[in-house]
Amino acid sequence: MTAPARARFSGGKQWGSVGMGTVVAPNAVAAVSEARQWDRLMALARIGAFAGADGSPGVNRPCLTPLDREARRLLIGWGQAIGLAASVDPLGNLFLRREGTERGLAPVLAGSHMDSQPAGGRFDGIWGVVAALEAVQALHEAGQRTRRPIEIVAWTNEEGGRFAPGCMGSMAYAGFKPAGSWDAVTDGDGIRFGDALREHLRLEADLPRRPLGVVEGPAPHAYVEAHIEQGPVLEREGLDIGIVTGIQGSRWFLVELTGESAHAGTAPVSLRRDAVQDMVRAITALNALMEDPTDVLRFTVARIEVAPNSSNSVAETVRFTIDFRHPDKAVLLQRGDAIDATIRAAVRNCDVTVTERFHALPVEFAPEVTEAVARAAAAQGLGARRMPSGAFHDAQFMVPLCPTGMIFVPSRRGISHNPAEYSSPEQLARGARVLAQVLWELASG
Ligand code: GLV
Ligand code: MN
Ligand code: MN
Repeated sequence: MTAPARARFSGGKQWGSVGMGTVVAPNAVAAVSEARQWDRLMALARIGAFAGADGSPGVNRPCLTPLDREARRLLIGWGQAIGLAASVDPLGNLFLRREGTERGLAPVLAGSHMDSQPAGGRFDGIWGVVAALEAVQALHEAGQRTRRPIEIVAWTNEEGGRFAPGCMGSMAYAGFKPAGSWDAVTDGDGIRFGDALREHLRLEADLPRRPLGVVEGPAPHAYVEAHIEQGPVLEREGLDIGIVTGIQGSRWFLVELTGESAHAGTAPVSLRRDAVQDMVRAITALNALMEDPTDVLRFTVARIEVAPNSSNSVAETVRFTIDFRHPDKAVLLQRGDAIDATIRAAVRNCDVTVTERFHALPVEFAPEVTEAVARAAAAQGLGARRMPSGAFHDAQFMVPLCPTGMIFVPSRRGISHNPAEYSSPEQLARGARVLAQVLWELASG
């Protein structure tokens, strides 16, 4: 069904202008409610709310915690109120399904994650889930049926803030790693991922269990993820929508240095096996390895654990993380593969263990989805540009399974993984309208 849309919606943009394409399912697109979507986001942001250093309203909602479950329950309730069927898979990935008109067709998946960074904001991940619900609710209210089912998905542990690495739910769904791969990974309190997941599934035992993704079932027809940009480009260029063309590659490493604790006042420096000093040597060498005059490469050390962590005891052990990203596979492989040897050459006195915990190659999204996003944005009179994603997303692991793509909306000052993260109700509503049109198109095909 196609029809030009002429109405002015709350986004304040005139749609259906000449040469801009056509709004498909215009009633559904118009049924996207800016207020409802915003109110839901703010209700979810209260679950795990804390005030950042500058007073910004942050969220700390680690995966597989009571807070995570409370947020999921809220979402499930909203979905069930419009007839969506909730189910959960063996990794705790949560699905809300709207049936299509034809039996047996593969579903279109749309969603993101509901866990946050430990000092995160109100929009990273959760907006993609709420936007998918908003889009599906708009289709529902407009009486717009699709041939294919649409499934809203909330992936387990995208952030990797509690259990490293991130994207466990989507990696297992896609068969990228076996489901039990991370059972022994522990959080900061020594709780094993496998135990946290078992407890979570026990507490969600009232929800029907479904098979694990393409490991135990068929592939989806397509996957679309809406997300805040988390960078400054759209805002700087005054645009509404990012047509995401792909995601750069990421590799995560855990480095463990083991020396010997000693008295800070008595042990001669020349005799020490000081893990902090070796960490400084290692990071200095890594900074040289990762030097990039073009400023494309991303190299981050951001989590450091020192033991015994006492100011007058020489450090016996240090564990630090490496997050390394690059859009070029060759650079990602070459420099990433050099990390281990670089550290070993730099340290003087400690034993070294380097463990790679995450390895996601760069991906390109499918034209079936990027073109649908571009068409929807143009038809709705929105300013859009093609852009890659610097952040990783669950979408990365859907690429081998089905046509996949993402929709970005602007992030104020590009700030993310920070309580000050912000996108306005209007910006988010524009994103949800584009998603509604894209879902309608994909699920009608
Ligand atoms: C996702 O949160 C990322 O770190 O890119
Ligand atoms: Mn995210
Ligand atoms: Mn994130």
